Amino acid sequence: MNPTLWVWSMGAASEYWRSRKGFILAAIGSAIGLGNIWRFSWLTYRNGGGAFIIPYFIALIVVGVPLIILEFVLGNYFKGSSPKVFRKIREQFEVVGWIAIIDVFVIGLYYAVVLAWVLAYVGFSLTVAWGTVEGVGDLFNSLLGNPLLVGVTLAITWFITWLTVYKGIASGIERASLFAIPILWILSVALVIRGLTLPGSVEGINWYLTPNWAKLAEGKVWVDAFGQILFTLSVMAAPLVVYASYMPEKSELPNSAWITAFANCGFSFFFGFATWGIIGYLMQLQNVASPEQLGVPLGGGGLAFVTIPTAVTLLPGAPVSTMVFGTIFFVILWLAGYTSLISIVEPVYASFRDKFGVDRKTGVTVITLLSFILGLLFVFQPGLIDPVDFMAGSTNLIWVVFLEAVIAGYYFSLKKLRDYVNPYAELRLGPWFDVLIRYVAPIALVAILSYGLVTAGQMSPISAVVLIAIILASVVLAGMKWRGEEK
Ligand code: PFF
Repeated sequence: MNPTLWVWSMGAASEYWRSRKGFILAAIGSAIGLGNIWRFSWLTYRNGGGAFIIPYFIALIVVGVPLIILEFVLGNYFKGSSPKVFRKIREQFEVVGWIAIIDVFVIGLYYAVVLAWVLAYVGFSLTVAWGTVEGVGDLFNSLLGNPLLVGVTLAITWFITWLTVYKGIASGIERASLFAIPILWILSVALVIRGLTLPGSVEGINWYLTPNWAKLAEGKVWVDAFGQILFTLSVMAAPLVVYASYMPEKSELPNSAWITAFANCGFSFFFGFATWGIIGYLMQLQNVASPEQLGVPLGGGGLAFVTIPTAVTLLPGAPVSTMVFGTIFFVILWLAGYTSLISIVEPVYASFRDKFGVDRKTGVTVITLLSFILGLLFVFQPGLIDPVDFMAGSTNLIWVVFLEAVIAGYYFSLKKLRDYVNPYAELRLGPWFDVLIRYVAPIALVAILSYGLVTAGQMSPISAVVLIAIILASVVLAGMKWRGEEK
């Protein structure tokens, strides 16, 4: 290998964020997504209400925050995407970076399809297309059976995402985040106020937060808490690593990581008041004693596409309030998902740039186009989303992040990383950081992974195919030559 070319090919990224605020908002944009809105409040309720806050908070502190810090520092120190970062630590670890990248690419495929449904629902809400409460379920089913409509909203979603990432870090992603995140919060405040002022809301909030301490004895509750923390924070050796590589050297990083984590988890908790206020209202209207008796789904897509439309249809002041609050809800969901989707495309592009010298315009165009085409699979077969998500959006995150912690903790010097960031840090990293990365996080991750494997009822053939495909693609990519590299 020619050393000069090598240095050039591994050179610093030439793009930067315009401001620290832009970087933090983009990281928060990646973190806050569909997961915060329809997964968190449902998981909380199912896993012991207020008691769930404890495993969730523990997962945040022992795995979430240390890993965001680690990803920020690694990305900034090595100035690049995860294949490059891991390769610089040891050549044979490059494949771990590619696994993260292909995995996030796969997440993007179905994540965008859900966003396409959301976009269709922005339109449906504006026209209250489901008509009456009875029409809600039918409309959702007919959307799932309408590949043409979903194909169109998917194309729009990818087009907007393409345009944003194509324009680059400062003029594309930073601008989009500075615009979308404040709007997201303002609209959420409006929805939470509406939720909390509805009759019966207190009853819903009680179901959301009343602690059921006995639940903490269940392993599943802890698995849910750790799995949710990784997904919700986008900790997976992909977006946060590259986002931090666009901060100049000598930047503040650890406190930025704490801010990102708390803004994200705070948003989830806060938004739960809107969701559960509305559920409480439905309970009062239907005169039922528990949320399960409502006959509407409380978690996942069902919450968004069935329960919320049902509830807004019954709001005081309908149909105008139905239109207003239905639209607000789906706009929130779309903006949250859109800023996550751009953070899925950017690391994929950055990895191909680092390794093969692909330029932004070509790279981003090919990635988004390919994602659109492959995503059509989920448009025609929405049933594939769950098993693919089980692997790409959940199980893989756990072991990839485990490897990330082990590689950084045992094959690189954490002290070096601490010394690198501490002079500019608002919150300095002490030896506690090493303990968390070397011992606490890996042990916690292995524990939940083994528990998950033992109880993995969901490991379908489709999930297995996804796993094998991701690993094969990563091995092939890792085996290819770096630009400028002579073998
Ligand atoms: N954090 C996003 C959410 O909670 O919806 C999902 C996500 C985005 C996961 C980006 C992974 C990722 F790289």
